[in-house]
Amino acid sequence: MSSDVSIRVSGLCKSFPVYDKPHHRLMQMFAAGDAKRRWYREFHALSNIDFEVHRGETVGIVGRNGSGKSTLLQLICGTLAPTLGNVEINGRIAALLELGAGFNPEFTGRENVFLNGTLLGLTRMEIEARFDEIVAFADIGDFIDQPVKSYSSGMYIRLAFAVAINVTPDILIVDEALSVGDEAFQRKCFARIERIRNDGATVLFVSHSAGTVLELCNRAILLDRGELLAIGTPKRVVSHYQKLLYAPDSVAKGIRDKYRRELLEQSGTRAGNVRSDAANIAVQRPEDMPGEDIPDAYFDPGLRSQSELRFESRGGRVVDPHLETPGGQRVNVVRSGAEYVFVYSAEFDKLSAAVRFGMLIKSVSGLELGGAVTSQPLDAIDFVQAGTSVTVRFRFRCLLAPGTYFMNAGIRGRVGEEETFLDRVIDAVLFRVLPDPGRLATGYVDFGVQSQLTLEGEVHD
Ligand SMILES: Nc1ncnc2c1ncn2[C@@H]1O[C@H](COP(=O)(O)OP(=O)(O)OP(=O)(O)O)[C@@H](O)[C@H]1O
Ligand SMILES: [Mg+2]
Repeated sequence: MSSDVSIRVSGLCKSFPVYDKPHHRLMQMFAAGDAKRRWYREFHALSNIDFEVHRGETVGIVGRNGSGKSTLLQLICGTLAPTLGNVEINGRIAALLELGAGFNPEFTGRENVFLNGTLLGLTRMEIEARFDEIVAFADIGDFIDQPVKSYSSGMYIRLAFAVAINVTPDILIVDEALSVGDEAFQRKCFARIERIRNDGATVLFVSHSAGTVLELCNRAILLDRGELLAIGTPKRVVSHYQKLLYAPDSVAKGIRDKYRRELLEQSGTRAGNVRSDAANIAVQRPEDMPGEDIPDAYFDPGLRSQSELRFESRGGRVVDPHLETPGGQRVNVVRSGAEYVFVYSAEFDKLSAAVRFGMLIKSVSGLELGGAVTSQPLDAIDFVQAGTSVTVRFRFRCLLAPGTYFMNAGIRGRVGEEETFLDRVIDAVLFRVLPDPGRLATGYVDFGVQSQLTLEGEVHD
């Protein structure tokens, strides 16, 4: 694992056995060797979770109750074993989990500090050196010499947090714990987390507070019913979370589908996954294109993409993406079978290297129907000066069934050693293909299928 990555979670799944009746647990124990009968159902608390946290990042996890947040943290800390997949950790973890920090209730606070410190990999001398600071931070007075079982939940969390942050962890994991303490203690904890972050540690925490996630995190993750539904800037992920939280059930399904689609697009971005096999569409200037207006296509100003998603620009910017007829008339309601041009300007505010352009047409459910890039990576434009504007035109025949479609636009270029998106707009354009009552083709794409019937015998027409 690259030293830049603190936590890598790949294909992580966790199922729990769920017994419908208490005695089924017992039956299962007796049936252990007998594969024929299972006395439990599998409950999938987490399914196929993939993400990385980089060194020094602060990442917030949000999601409804029961979405799998605590399970995920426990898998990362190793207090639970995954059903499938794995977790890689680079550095020393200190964790404050929902169900305690591994304190033994019979031991005193003092004894638990030593026990806990040892578990976190500190020597007795190291713990002794930090002991006064831990006790001062916890600020629980004489209770430090009482058994932990006599603590209030607030006192418990104070001591647990004091230990976790005073062992100078490389990775600090906090599960909602801070909401237990009073406000003054919370503020003290946040200030300390800030310091830990500034020292370069990685922080992963669960929070139900949108404000905390927006304030503290570089990135956030949305979990929903055991599925990772969004990962990205705190602003975007928190807004996704809130939309889902307040959506009625009938709408929530559509929202989930949309988020899954975005996530797929996003992982495409990370892998540099633009189709590169359809490179025969060249950048053309308007005069190359014959002016053939399609009278039946038109522009409906009310027809606008409401799901446009822009990624952060890295020197290039897609401006005014739209569809035109080959004669230059702006349209968004088109006819199947006719030719159209997808046009945008690419504006550069930085010197950009190895530049090429892309487009993609998708169905409403996000299925990638087809697209193109302007060149193979090796034939990209070597350099584009800052201040340059390039008009990009993709001419194509619309072979689509009547319905609504979306288009993506992207500028690719090299940043450092890697090709990446200099700008990317998902759902930049929405267009509709007019109904065609005579259409015989089925499915999304008209392949120009010719049908023929050969008859033997009689038919009645
Ligand atoms: N040991 C277990 N056995 C069976 N089911 C479990 C077990 N632990 C967790 N679950 C289930 O897994 C799901 C995820 O639980 P988890 O505690 O990770 O949720 P959470 O996101 O932390 O919720 P909260 O916001 O309430 O803390 C829940 O439906 C929970 O009932
Ligand atoms: Mg939880």
